[in-house]
Amino acid sequence: MKATSSSTPPSNAPSSTLPAEPGFDFQPLGRVMFAPGALNQLGEAVKSIGGERVLLVTDPGLEHVGHPQRALKIMREAGLEVFTFDGVKENPTEREVVAGVVFARTHHVDCIVAVGGGSSMDCAKGINFILTNGGRMADYKGNGKATKPMLPSVGVPTTAGTGSEAQSYALITDEHTHHKMACGDKKAAFRVSILDPELTLSQPKSVTAVTGIDAVAHAIESFVCTKRNAISSMCARSAFGHLEPNFETVLRSPQDLPARTAMQLGSHLAGMAIENAMLGVCHSCANPLTAHYGITHGVAIGVMLPHVIRFNAPVAGHLYAELIGERANRQPAAEVLAARVSQLTAAAGLPQSLKECGVSDTILQLLAEEANLQWTARFNPRPVTEADIHKLYQAAW
Ligand SMILES: [Fe+2]
Repeated sequence: MKATSSSTPPSNAPSSTLPAEPGFDFQPLGRVMFAPGALNQLGEAVKSIGGERVLLVTDPGLEHVGHPQRALKIMREAGLEVFTFDGVKENPTEREVVAGVVFARTHHVDCIVAVGGGSSMDCAKGINFILTNGGRMADYKGNGKATKPMLPSVGVPTTAGTGSEAQSYALITDEHTHHKMACGDKKAAFRVSILDPELTLSQPKSVTAVTGIDAVAHAIESFVCTKRNAISSMCARSAFGHLEPNFETVLRSPQDLPARTAMQLGSHLAGMAIENAMLGVCHSCANPLTAHYGITHGVAIGVMLPHVIRFNAPVAGHLYAELIGERANRQPAAEVLAARVSQLTAAAGLPQSLKECGVSDTILQLLAEEANLQWTARFNPRPVTEADIHKLYQAAW
C-alpha cells in the first residue's frame, strides 16, 4: 500500500508509537445538507426518511431566537405532524431522556428531529435508544448494544462545536456520578444532518467561544490519536483548516456569515473525524472537571489542551507540524500549536488555568484517578498513566 503524506512522518521526525497506516472500517452515516438557508429543506428531509409524525427535540433557551418555531413551521407546511419536546438541559441526564420518551410515546411519533446544540442532539439520540429498545441509558454504554431498529432522525445543529450531528454516540450524564456515558450505535446516528450556518449567527459570544474551542480540540486530538486513519486524518486536517483561521473572526464579528459557515463546516468535519477515529487525554481530563465543578466542557478543554499538546510532542510533533504548516518555522511544532491554542482561548476570554476556574489543587490527584479511567485516555498518542495525568493537571493549575 502506498503511504500517504498524512500518515508518513518525514524522515527526521521523532520515532512514533503510531502505526504507519492504520486500517479503518469506514461507514458513512448519512446525508449531509450544507448551505445557508438549508433549514428550509427540513420538511423534505423528514419526508425522505419516511417521517410523518415528528418528535422535535430542542432546548428551551433557543426559543427566544426562534429556531425551534421556524423548524416547526417548515415541517407543518410540509404536511407533517410535529410534537415539540423542549425539556432538554445542558449535559442531559437520563431524567430528560425519559421525559422525552414518555412524551414521544404519547404522540406515537415515527421520526425524531433535533434542533439545537450538542445537548439537544445527544438527548434526541438518547430518547431514540430507550423509545425503541427499552431499558436504561447505562445498558447502551459502549457501542452497538441496541438490538432492535431505531427511528429515523434528523440533526440540525445551531452551534458550531460539538459535531454530535456527525456521530453515532449520545453523551448522557449519569445523574448520580455526574460522569458522561458514551452510548453509541450506528442506528442512533442521524440519517440526515442539516447544516445551516445562518442558525449559528445567533450564538452568544460565550457559546461561540466554548463550542468553537471544543471543535478545534476535536480536530487536534482526533488528528493524532492512535485510532487515526486516512479518513479521519482527512476530516481532522480539513476541520482544523476551517476552524483555526475563523475562530477569532466569529468572536470579533458574530454576523460574519462566511466565517460562521467555515466554523460550522469545520465542527462537522471534526465530528466526522471523531466518529472515524477517537479523541485523546485532553477530553479525559475535561470530563472530571465538568463532573466535580460543573465547568463547561469547552472551558475545561481550552485550559487543558495546550498542556496535552506539549505532553504529546515527543510522539506527535510531526503531526502537529502538518496542522500548523510553515508557521512552525523551525520551532518545535507542538510549542507553536500550544501557543496558538492559548492565543485562541485568550481571544475568546476563556480562563487560562484551573486555578482561575476555581479548582482546588488538593483535588488534582482524585481528578487524575478519574481521568485515567476515561475511555479516550487509552487512545492518546503518547500512552498516559495516572501520574502523567496528575502532572498535566498540575501544569494546567
Ligand atoms: Fe469535546
